[in-house]
Amino acid sequence: MRVLLFTGKGGVGKTTVAAATALRAAESGMRTLVCSTDPAHSLGDALDVELGDTVLPVTGRLDGQELDARDRLEEAWGSIRDYLVALFQWAGAESLDAEELAVIPGLDEVFALAELRTQAESGEYDLIVVDCAPTAETLRLLSLPDVLGWYMERIFPAQRAVTRAVRPLMSRMVKMPTPGEGVFENVRRFYDRLDGVRDLLTDGSVSSARLVVTPERMVVAEARRTFTYLSLFGYHVDAVIANRVLPDAVTDPWFKGWRDAQAEHLGTITTNFEPVPIVQAELAENELVGIQRLSAFGASLYGDDPPDRRMSTVEPMSLRQRDGIPVLSLNLPFTTKEEVDLGRSGDELYIGIASYRRAILLPDSLRRRPVRRAHIENARLDIEFGEV
Ligand SMILES: Nc1ncnc2c1ncn2[C@@H]1O[C@H](COP(=O)(O)OP(=O)(O)OP(=O)(O)O)[C@@H](O)[C@H]1O
Ligand SMILES: [Mg+2]
Repeated sequence: MRVLLFTGKGGVGKTTVAAATALRAAESGMRTLVCSTDPAHSLGDALDVELGDTVLPVTGRLDGQELDARDRLEEAWGSIRDYLVALFQWAGAESLDAEELAVIPGLDEVFALAELRTQAESGEYDLIVVDCAPTAETLRLLSLPDVLGWYMERIFPAQRAVTRAVRPLMSRMVKMPTPGEGVFENVRRFYDRLDGVRDLLTDGSVSSARLVVTPERMVVAEARRTFTYLSLFGYHVDAVIANRVLPDAVTDPWFKGWRDAQAEHLGTITTNFEPVPIVQAELAENELVGIQRLSAFGASLYGDDPPDRRMSTVEPMSLRQRDGIPVLSLNLPFTTKEEVDLGRSGDELYIGIASYRRAILLPDSLRRRPVRRAHIENARLDIEFGEV
């Protein structure tokens, strides 16, 4: 079973490439599901078929789904939210503010991820292709299992039994609202689901992220940042798809400027993302809508290659020994030392780049060791640990 996530800047061709990849896979015999997590769905329009929140057949081996996670969110989140509202009120927040505070942005998207896990575990598919929302939302979506899990573990102690014992005491002493049984149930279920999603999406042998770009300066600049953040959160980027490349058949001098610019940016993309391979996709001669055209586009994208083949095995994070010193190494190209924020609290390490932060729970072997040195070399952030 493989999962392929397609992401990139708005309008570059994510939906088109995702749909074409899924069709190609289905034609080569794989039981495939293509689903969109972008609330502004256009997958059905691209394939020119009716799609919805439930899985519907597209072609023989291909199913499609446009996830609408809001209802599911309301169901599971309801009692957790009620508790948070009570907690915020206790802390002095006005009731209206409390209502607003208790909605974690992007939570509905998390439910889209949870649904993804259900499909992955159903055993019904060999490949799940995900058409993601434009970059910013996707990053938030993909970092949520990490961030939310971190908060959950702190707001709601994992050991419910322990809390059950201290609850009467807590209520009496501080009159702080303590979560009821139902809340615990839901949080536990909620978190367990997310936990699995994260494991699924950061396992490089199962899931790969593919960055769709067009050979344009601003698109490439954003793709570099996206690549960094994806690596930070442990996602494996196995290919960059350069879309809308002008075909040789276009010889009109009008396009000379475009062709020169594209050649320059394609060069930049190739050297920038090395060793991650670049797959080129030409600008088609007409709109890529409908199964037939998308299927032809998929064939030109992958040729005889299986569309789900893992194209690069660069590890986003690894633990190595160098001269007997343990080194935690993160693949963070396009980053300078000044941009990285490092922090340590007990057995956790915090890594921040711009507005994205990740908390990494250190493995047993590193827990008691101090961080000795951190530096960036060959696109990797190496964090060296000292003696206990
Ligand atoms: N290689 C191509 N040749 C011709 N047309 C293309 C190509 N790739 C994409 N298109 C067209 O460009 C438009 C935008 O593509 P698409 O919807 O796949 O982009 P997107 O990245 O999913 O956009 P959004 O960010 O809005 O989700 C569509 O009309 C699509 O048919
Ligand atoms: Mg799209």
